[in-house]
Amino acid sequence: MASSVVGALLRVATLLCLFQCIQAKTVTYDWNVTWVTANPDGMTDRKVIGINGQWPLPVVEVDKGDRLVVNMYNGLGNKDTSIHWHGMFQNGTNGMDGASMVTQCPVPPGQSFTYNFTINQNGTYWYHCHTNNCYPDGYRQALIVHDKDAYFNDMYDKEYTLTMSDWYHELIEDIKWITLTNPTGAEPVPQAFLINDTTSTSLPVKPGESYLLRLINVGAFVAQYFYIEDHTFKIVEIDGVYTEPTEASTLYIAVAQRYTILVEAKNSTEKNYPIVMVADSQLLDTIPSDLQLNVTSWLEYNKTADHPQAVMKVDQSSSLVPVDDMSLVPYDRMELLPEPDLTIDVTVIMQNLADGAGYAFLNNISYTKPKVPTLYSVLSSGNYSDNDEIYGEFTHPTILEKNQVVEIILNNGDTGSHPFHLHGHNVQLIDRAPAYGAHFYDYLNGDPVPYDPSTNDSFPQYPPRRDTFILPPQGYLVLRFVADNPGIWLFHCHIDWHLSQGLAMVLVEAPEQLQEQEKVSSQAYDNCRVAGVPYEGNAAANTEDWLDLSGQNRQVDWLPAGFTTKGIVAMVFSCVSAFLGMAFISFYGASGIEAKKKETAIVNEGSASASS
Ligand SMILES: *[C@@H]1O[C@H](CO)[C@@H](O)[C@H](O)[C@H]1NC(C)=O
Ligand SMILES: *[C@@H]1O[C@H](CO)[C@@H](O)[C@H](O)[C@H]1NC(C)=O
Ligand SMILES: *[C@@H]1O[C@H](CO)[C@@H](O)[C@H](O)[C@H]1NC(C)=O
Ligand SMILES: *[C@@H]1O[C@H](CO)[C@@H](O)[C@H](O)[C@H]1NC(C)=O
Ligand SMILES: *[C@@H]1O[C@H](CO)[C@@H](O)[C@H](O)[C@H]1NC(C)=O
Ligand SMILES: *[C@@H]1O[C@H](CO)[C@@H](O)[C@H](O)[C@H]1NC(C)=O
Ligand SMILES: *[C@@H]1O[C@H](CO)[C@@H](O)[C@H](O)[C@H]1NC(C)=O
Ligand SMILES: *[C@@H]1O[C@H](CO)[C@@H](O)[C@H](O)[C@H]1NC(C)=O
Ligand SMILES: *[C@@H]1O[C@H](CO)[C@@H](O)[C@H](O)[C@H]1NC(C)=O
Ligand SMILES: *[C@@H]1O[C@H](CO)[C@@H](O)[C@H](O)[C@H]1NC(C)=O
Ligand SMILES: *[C@@H]1O[C@H](CO)[C@@H](O)[C@H](O)[C@H]1NC(C)=O
Repeated sequence: MASSVVGALLRVATLLCLFQCIQAKTVTYDWNVTWVTANPDGMTDRKVIGINGQWPLPVVEVDKGDRLVVNMYNGLGNKDTSIHWHGMFQNGTNGMDGASMVTQCPVPPGQSFTYNFTINQNGTYWYHCHTNNCYPDGYRQALIVHDKDAYFNDMYDKEYTLTMSDWYHELIEDIKWITLTNPTGAEPVPQAFLINDTTSTSLPVKPGESYLLRLINVGAFVAQYFYIEDHTFKIVEIDGVYTEPTEASTLYIAVAQRYTILVEAKNSTEKNYPIVMVADSQLLDTIPSDLQLNVTSWLEYNKTADHPQAVMKVDQSSSLVPVDDMSLVPYDRMELLPEPDLTIDVTVIMQNLADGAGYAFLNNISYTKPKVPTLYSVLSSGNYSDNDEIYGEFTHPTILEKNQVVEIILNNGDTGSHPFHLHGHNVQLIDRAPAYGAHFYDYLNGDPVPYDPSTNDSFPQYPPRRDTFILPPQGYLVLRFVADNPGIWLFHCHIDWHLSQGLAMVLVEAPEQLQEQEKVSSQAYDNCRVAGVPYEGNAAANTEDWLDLSGQNRQVDWLPAGFTTKGIVAMVFSCVSAFLGMAFISFYGASGIEAKKKETAIVNEGSASASS
């Protein structure tokens, strides 16, 4: 009797396993990455990074539990590359995270790298190149993880994926902007905005049916507002985390963020409704008169009926009120993490260095690549791995111990908002000010307001979790997560321009466990040899004396005392205007100068030499 019960249970278990083993498959892609030509905005042909001769790039689709294998060949000829799988935890496979000089060497032309990892997460992700500034050249696309157990599976009839992005006409390598002639650090202004790599698209819908829309901002810089005229929708997922269905009408989607929404179609087929994407023009230092900030697509009920353009003006867009992601509740109702074991308190500032160019800092450190990828320093360092000095001063390393509760307090000494991303984790968003909406820019009227733990607001019981989160202008954001994923994880602003200005730091999580579990392929080390990048030693590639960092890569020197950002701005603008007259001023935009002057004043605050 008992044995037959055991036998039955065993058979059930075998069946379950068989079912799951059959379910979990390997999805393999062979990618030849080469330059191709594209013209997605209809304005100009340009070189973009294609895969197997195609652009837009292939959408990667897997089922939860699958192994993804991507054999990537760098056929670009003139550029190093890599792929980051944005939002993937890479739990046990840190070396597959794709961040150049963090977890691998850049893959040089003519070399290959095989990305190989399992995916036990749900939802909407994307992939992009993570070597220098390469993804705005087109190397980015959606990655969708289908989940047969998603709670909303029976709530829709069909799904669509829509990417949104900014678009530049020049190759990124030709945009020289971290220079003395751009001392305010004004970010390059895009020439166009794309929806799904085109200028508009129609989503055919049938009356009464429901649709799942996966929205991904794959842009390099600009956040987008999103709404559908005369329709509300329900948010069901943010950045791979299911949320309780939450009614909304407007979203604000920063670069690298994802929202998945359910839209119910109307019953009538009389007209088509604009799906509207509007760039957040507050982020732009100047708005060229020919830059169209809005892109209209349609929920298409009737192919032959009119497809009306949305009416949208700059002042209208700045008064849109998006749903506040702090108000979303994860479907799994994971509770607020306990008080932290470790607090990382960092402040964003923008400042000029001795070359006159504008850089970005977390606590006075502008991230500068080490000579050895930080993961490879860990793996070669033996018993020095828990000494943060070996990772170099300018990677801004912080060591996390296994399973610590970590709190990051991110203060913003800058007047712009910054979408930060943490690799390898979702984090709980536990406090942020100002909130989205009418008061988002309120702190610009005074000094930056840093987070004050003694007057903390009450934290949410079930805080929203995501992997990319917005730090408000001159405000703050407080995050918590558990260090349960040994690895080297980059924490950085996802505005690609700011990353190249150094707005990043590395978290060295559980280095001893990492040494035990991480296996690096010989192919990965071959790439280092071909690229001429050392793969052993501390940040200065010293394998003899681990505490000797001489020769490490350093950020540009600080300005000599007496020099100020304001002074440089004034000097450059007076010189340049002498040569070029007003052309230069109108190019970078007088409003930009005003905004950046404010920032300058903040940076110089408390400095004895705050005068020009
Ligand atoms: C990649 O594509 C280029 C251009 O089509 C071709 O010359 C090259 O042989 C391809 N390489 C591989 C490894 O497929
Ligand atoms: C991917 O990794 C798995 C597990 O380590 C291994 O068994 C498999 O051979 C790898 N596949 C490729 C194509 O490298
Ligand atoms: C968006 O673009 C991808 C890649 O080209 C395509 O597979 C997908 O069907 C497009 N989505 C819509 C809604 O057109
Ligand atoms: C992933 O999907 C499973 C099954 O649908 C669900 O239980 C889990 O909560 C989801 N994870 C997240 C982070 O939403
Ligand atoms: C469409 O009609 C059905 C059946 O009459 C109704 O249940 C549903 O709520 C209607 N949908 C909308 C969006 O009005
Ligand atoms: C929005 O798009 C319309 C139609 O293309 C255009 O006329 C208008 O100038 C755009 N508005 C903005 C603020 O870019
Ligand atoms: C679609 O639109 C056309 C043009 O407005 C109209 O003549 C036709 O009746 C509509 N079809 C349906 C099914 O509503
Ligand atoms: C940054 O540098 C300034 C000037 O040297 C110093 O006063 C300040 O304490 C530093 N801030 C941090 C967080 O290290
Ligand atoms: C590290 O290990 C070496 C031998 O492998 C030993 O000589 C040295 O003292 C150890 N250093 C530390 C800091 O524990
Ligand atoms: C405020 O912060 C303190 C110290 O970090 C903590 O003990 C307390 O629980 C926090 N209060 C709330 C309401 O979260
Ligand atoms: C990583 O995997 C371990 C178990 O192997 C688990 O305890 C931990 O929660 C995972 N972390 C993440 C971020 O997935």
